[in-house]
Amino acid sequence: MTALEVEGIVKRFGDVTALDGLSFEAGAGEFFCLLGPSAAGKTTALRAIAGLERLDAGRVRFGGRDVTDDPVQGRGFAMIFQTFALYPHLTAFENLAYPLREEKRPADEVARRVDEIAEMLRISHALGRKPNTLSGGEQQRVAIGRALIRRPGLLLLDEPLTNLDAKLRHDTRAEFKRLHRELGMTMVYATPDQLEALTMAERLAVLRDGRIVQTGTPEELYATPGDSFVATMVGAPPMNLIPGEISRNGSGPVLSLPFAELDAGRWRGAATATEPVLFGIRPHDIAPVNGERRGPGFSATVHLTEPLGDVTVIDLQASDSLVKMVLPEHEALAYRVGDKVDVEISMEDTHLFFRETGVLIPSVERPDQ
Ligand SMILES: Nc1ncnc2c1ncn2[C@@H]1O[C@H](COP(=O)(O)OP(=O)(O)O)[C@@H](O)[C@H]1O
Ligand SMILES: [Mg+2]
Repeated sequence: MTALEVEGIVKRFGDVTALDGLSFEAGAGEFFCLLGPSAAGKTTALRAIAGLERLDAGRVRFGGRDVTDDPVQGRGFAMIFQTFALYPHLTAFENLAYPLREEKRPADEVARRVDEIAEMLRISHALGRKPNTLSGGEQQRVAIGRALIRRPGLLLLDEPLTNLDAKLRHDTRAEFKRLHRELGMTMVYATPDQLEALTMAERLAVLRDGRIVQTGTPEELYATPGDSFVATMVGAPPMNLIPGEISRNGSGPVLSLPFAELDAGRWRGAATATEPVLFGIRPHDIAPVNGERRGPGFSATVHLTEPLGDVTVIDLQASDSLVKMVLPEHEALAYRVGDKVDVEISMEDTHLFFRETGVLIPSVERPDQ
């Protein structure tokens, strides 16, 4: 069932069009992510849904009701911001209680609900303390608790982990998933971080210049990006995009890259395409060959190795191009800067895009595209 419907939202700030016909739907109880680079319009989108921005066009519906003209309070949504400002002079308890005190709830109800939410967020031990004596993570939990305590129908989260350190970001990601499971609340979570979006979202939308480029599950967006922008936004390290040209010889279309010629027969559009293209291959879909190379691939030189713990990213120099390859750490140990390496490509996992527009050229194997 659809909970939130955002339909054709336009929001301009003077000459800047922050939202340019933004549309998406989030299901009831769904964890939905908006993934986009800085200035894509994430904050404006959440503020528009919350009722903090006057729209130039478009509608917002929640639970089937049009809330576009409702005041902020009337919507029953809560928003958690990137910078979580707590009241410094109030204890964690009073920070959590604040929204309920504003609603003039009786003292015993306030105490009960604060205890409940503190237990859920595992901050019961800190209720008597002021924010400046809490760790960053505890402060963030109090901020989350303050947003949740009114039991909002919809929770809007604007990069809530951006100001936390790496370890805390990791723990809090897991915490958000747990909270979402326990509360069954509809959440819209904006982030520029593909790892956050892919690990937490049930579905996500990639946002660019105030518009949704593609919506789907993390698996769908990873496996079948609709254009080269989504291809580089989803997955890390990002997909390699190598400029190429399509030509035709006696046996069919050929993809010419600066360092290899590949059979382009698997792309339907390649039979007629004459425009320059981008060949997309994920660093995980390139592997060294031992001995004779049998399938498609290329020869390269190791330019740089970057150990990341369990995997190593190897920058390969092939002709003038740098191509990233990811190997398990133990396999990567065999390679040193300057080594020659022959690699092969699993063509089923590659993608082809028009260079000018970034639009995907569908493959024969995937008639659904
Ligand atoms: N209050 C504002 N006044 C003028 N321009 C704004 C304002 N808020 C946002 N913008 C512009 O709108 C665009 C989208 O911004 P924003 O929604 O903050 O993006 P994001 O959160 O994805 O980084 C940007 O170009 C930004 O500069
Ligand atoms: Mg923002």
